[in-house]
Amino acid sequence: MSRARPSRRKVDPEEMVNEAFLKDPYPFFADPRRNDPVHWNAPTGAWYITRYADVFDLLVDRRLSASAEGETITRTPAEGQVAALVHDFFGRWMVFSDPPHQARVRETLHHVFTSSSMASFQSEVARISADAVAAFRSSGQDLMTDLTIPFAQATVSALLGVASEEFDEVARWSGELMGFLNRSSLEPYDVRSTLQAIQDLTDYVVATVLPRGYGLAVPILQSALRDGGWDPVTVSATFAQLLTGALEPVSNALGIAVTALQRHPDQRRAVREGHVLHTDVVEEAVRFDAPFHFAARRAVADITVGGATIHRGDRVMLVLASANRDEHRFVAADSFDVRRGPVRHVSFGRGGHYCLGSFLARQEMAVLLSELDRQWPELQVNLARTGRSPAFGATQLRPAPILA
Ligand code: HEM
Repeated sequence: MSRARPSRRKVDPEEMVNEAFLKDPYPFFADPRRNDPVHWNAPTGAWYITRYADVFDLLVDRRLSASAEGETITRTPAEGQVAALVHDFFGRWMVFSDPPHQARVRETLHHVFTSSSMASFQSEVARISADAVAAFRSSGQDLMTDLTIPFAQATVSALLGVASEEFDEVARWSGELMGFLNRSSLEPYDVRSTLQAIQDLTDYVVATVLPRGYGLAVPILQSALRDGGWDPVTVSATFAQLLTGALEPVSNALGIAVTALQRHPDQRRAVREGHVLHTDVVEEAVRFDAPFHFAARRAVADITVGGATIHRGDRVMLVLASANRDEHRFVAADSFDVRRGPVRHVSFGRGGHYCLGSFLARQEMAVLLSELDRQWPELQVNLARTGRSPAFGATQLRPAPILA
């Protein structure tokens, strides 16, 4: 689309694609949030909505669609065909689709995530946490590699019926899918490896996971395929969304929580002494550093926000990570503070796409943090060697070695 965009303030258009942004977007959102809160960014071809009030409202605005249309720059027509198959797969994910498809899938999966179902899963999560921390305590060297990632993997394995010896391969497919999603869509992208991962994952789900019947969510997926009119690709796409949704955000948010507490010894002491709940640490960790930075949408009607007109067809990024740092909504928004009390952050979204796994994510994280305090209260991570990997739209922590 070649329509000229209004720009009330000059924002360096390269900002959102350079290395510094990919490693830490927060400083880049601070200025648009104050001066250009509905910001058109030409290089990424999208509007960025950075204020809490706007993000909060637009998350439930039906003039924005979550439906993902194909947007991959390919070099040949053959690659274009591969890209179409890849986009078809992602278009079946709840988070990238609208009702009725999204509502149908969500309604089916809802039974997995009810509070009674989650309550029965809690003992499993507690056992996994205890084992994960014990193994980390005895031979772990790195917070991410040896604790938060294997913990998130073990939990999602129990949810999706993945056997431990299968996990390396499943994690590789998940990494391929996340690599595709976490690119900025500005560069040509070789989608062949993404399609291969999709095909391998679909074969694995249909031929191995479903017949085995093990895993909290598996009977529901099984009956959706058998009696619910779902085809194998929709089952595999749903499996993939649960897999990716449950791995990286949980392990990264745990890494954020542990390192942030270590940076604030007074807060860490308050948690350890029981003055602050682990559930409050979880809320503050995901507010402070939202694992997913954007809720991506497309306008299906013209929308006026903050004096700017978003036209039908335009891409819109609701910047959850920026909304959570809005100084008009949160006192000392850039500070990590587990004592700030109930906060209505938007890290799990809002409305029809509100994170289906939020209860599980919160439960998992609180249980692991409390187990860590119980088994290894004096744990010290080498903060000088921690940091983020470059990623568009997500927080990804590098390995975080512990101090011997
Ligand atoms: C800290 C961990 C997590 C964070 C921060 C997170 C964040 C989010 C966000 C922001 C959305 C909405 C996106 C949008 O509106 O476009 C979402 C949707 C979703 N999440 Fe999570 N998530 C987490 C963990 C999980 C877990 C553990 C699962 C499942 C096991 C899960 C499953 C889902 C699903 C299925 C959706 C799509 C819901 C829909 O579109 O109807 N998430 N998540």
